[in-house]
Amino acid sequence: MNILVTGGAGYIGSHTCLVLLKEGHNVIVVDNLSNSSLESLKRVKKLTGKELAFYELDLLNLESLERVFIENEIDSVIHFAGLKAVGESVSIPLHYYHNNLTGTFNLCSLMNKHGVKNIVFSSSATVYGDPEIVPITESASLSATNPYGRTKLMLEEILQDLYVADNSLNIAILRYFNPIGAHESGEIGEDPNGIPNNLVPYVAQVAVGKREQVGVFGDDYDTPDGTGVRDYIHVMDLAGGHLKALEKLNSKPGVVIYNLGTGKGYSVLDVIKAFSKAAGKDIPYSIGPRRPGDIANCYAEPSFAEKELGWKAVKNIDDMCVDSWRWQSQNPNGFS
Ligand SMILES: NC(=O)c1ccc[n+]([C@@H]2O[C@H](COP(=O)([O-])OP(=O)(O)OC[C@H]3O[C@@H](n4cnc5c(N)ncnc54)[C@H](O)[C@@H]3O)[C@@H](O)[C@H]2O)c1
Repeated sequence: MNILVTGGAGYIGSHTCLVLLKEGHNVIVVDNLSNSSLESLKRVKKLTGKELAFYELDLLNLESLERVFIENEIDSVIHFAGLKAVGESVSIPLHYYHNNLTGTFNLCSLMNKHGVKNIVFSSSATVYGDPEIVPITESASLSATNPYGRTKLMLEEILQDLYVADNSLNIAILRYFNPIGAHESGEIGEDPNGIPNNLVPYVAQVAVGKREQVGVFGDDYDTPDGTGVRDYIHVMDLAGGHLKALEKLNSKPGVVIYNLGTGKGYSVLDVIKAFSKAAGKDIPYSIGPRRPGDIANCYAEPSFAEKELGWKAVKNIDDMCVDSWRWQSQNPNGFS
């Protein structure tokens, strides 16, 4: 199949491109490189020994984007492109709404014009807000607490409206939990700009000596050790979930929604401990106050994806930390 991957140079996108190429698909990547580097795709080509097409362009530029649809016979789209930093989205909400919503409108309007029916959309566990019950099933109530989360929630609803208007569409909405880890080669991984927003890239930078210590936001939550609990999923497991979702779309299911998580929750201190083991060194940390907007517990009930897609995450927290550490220690400055 010819698969258009928006945001394919990014963290999850590059690992998914690798899996798609290995599976024998043709991959066409569109990315404006606002939060990524072309080096990730060069390494994907090196690791797979396969070529992919790359267009450096912005989804906001409808005319340039149409060139991709004219020059390629696209069968399915995987739509990763978007801005994802929660804190930044609170400071510059218009930028987030414009980028994430308008970019998706342009993409969907061109899919409509060029008869492309299948799309996999990157959503997030953030659409569950502060969940009342864990583990979280796909039917849990939805809410958003910041502009980033609201773009995901709005886009989920907009995609469902598009399906109501055109039943020949097939849409897989994938709600990721907390992707971490890297490809086992250590050649590609997460390369955040500036100070990492997420725990594991931060821990990795402390382990490699780029930052002094990990700040833990609160140890008075209602969790076993008082620190926040999340469902960490290996990025290669996540990438495999996209392959399964694409296969599902070929059976013309309409709109389908899946949690992609492991179903296991680990606390901040559990992660620091697992990473220390992987890196073979102590990781200094200090406990600070809670961070506004953070929740105590968030982990998936992933059995629906297993039942419908035959997909299950197989890598554990130690695998995730070992692979993150390999990536970080081999590439202390990321792709640059
Ligand atoms: N990483 C996570 O923790 C996580 C969790 C849940 C959901 N998600 C979602 O998954 C998707 C991929 O996340 P990621 O971690 O790989 O992020 P990432 O920033 O590494 O990748 C996103 C890519 O999209 C590109 N991009 C952004 N806006 C664009 C535009 N207007 N036109 C073209 N390209 C554009 C960026 O340059 C980047 O390469 C995002 O939609 C994100 O919101 C991520």
